[in-house]
Amino acid sequence: MKVGIIGAGRIAGIAAETLNRLSDIEAYAIGSRSIEKAEEFAARWNMPKAYGSYDELIADPDVDLVYVATPHSHHFEVTCKAIMAGKPCLVEKAFMANADQARKVIELAHERGVFLAEAIWTRYQPAVSIVRKIIAEGRIGQVRLITATLGYSMGNKPRIMLPELCGGALLDLGVYALNFVRMFTSLPARGGLSEGQRGGSDIVSINGQCVKSATGMDLTNAITMTLSNGILANVQSSAQCVGDNIGVIAGSDGNLIIDNINNPQTITVNGPHRSFVETIRVPQQITGYEYEFQACRDALAAGLLEPDEMPHAETLFIMRLMDDLRRKWGVRYPMD
Ligand SMILES: NC(=O)c1ccc[n+]([C@@H]2O[C@H](COP(=O)([O-])OP(=O)(O)OC[C@H]3O[C@@H](n4cnc5c(N)ncnc54)[C@H](OP(=O)(O)O)[C@@H]3O)[C@@H](O)[C@H]2O)c1
Repeated sequence: MKVGIIGAGRIAGIAAETLNRLSDIEAYAIGSRSIEKAEEFAARWNMPKAYGSYDELIADPDVDLVYVATPHSHHFEVTCKAIMAGKPCLVEKAFMANADQARKVIELAHERGVFLAEAIWTRYQPAVSIVRKIIAEGRIGQVRLITATLGYSMGNKPRIMLPELCGGALLDLGVYALNFVRMFTSLPARGGLSEGQRGGSDIVSINGQCVKSATGMDLTNAITMTLSNGILANVQSSAQCVGDNIGVIAGSDGNLIIDNINNPQTITVNGPHRSFVETIRVPQQITGYEYEFQACRDALAAGLLEPDEMPHAETLFIMRLMDDLRRKWGVRYPMD
């Protein structure tokens, strides 16, 4: 599978580095707004093609998967263009600026019969099935409380500070915390925009607090959710501090400590009275980003329009939660 990367920024470099270490998926082309930047990126990561526009990359018939790595504010337009050209797409998180854009782009993908996936890497990692299995086996009893924090000290990055780049901690980091809760409380189901087939525990109420920048973006936030089967979830994210980045799933007979929720390396199982049971290490990985590309490869080979690991209904559900929180906090983007 030949991957064409759009936007020669930070995550694009990590993706290229990851793909270079896979045998059957190739970092094939880079598209940048600047040909000099594209050529430099291609030379650095040993990629055969460099384009000085996103359109040229989309038009390359040899690109099998377009990986959109621009700021969230710029995902919609380029993804629509790629889908219209029939190109399968893997789009960085946060998937779109808001749920309206997400719905439109998902509908377009279904109309055109083109594969589309959200690059929320944690959904594709092996820790997901390890944790789900421990919970399903009843090893920690009934889950009652989920807590998670994700914090990075990101300074005054425009991508965090500016409304026109869809700033704030929620879309950049909180999205992982929300996915952490959903991954272990809902059973995702494929099938376009329908949420009817979802199993697991629905969110009954959601509320939050945030501290904003002078530019009106949420820099640190806390979100509390109650779920339909008696689970309470409390998650925090911040673009202004070094978080512990740990997730805890606490049950009636024990708990799981996941370190860390952004790239889990260990899952510690504790029994009643916090008695240590075991620490499970996830399998050796390249960077942890390989799984999302491998999932796209497998879904494309199977002729799917969305990956099982992150169905469209779930992507849309999370976007709606974030819209709702931003509305409550008064965090507005020009595209809302
Ligand atoms: N999965 C993860 O772990 C992870 C980690 C970090 C970021 N991300 C996501 O990946 C996306 C990109 O983040 P990043 O940290 O890589 O950002 P970045 O370093 O700022 O790179 C973004 C790239 O997008 C392109 N771009 C197009 N329009 C732009 C504009 N108006 N302003 C700035 N850049 C623009 C630029 O590439 P050209 O100049 O080459 O066109 C730029 O280099 C975001 O959606 C972010 O949430 C994911």
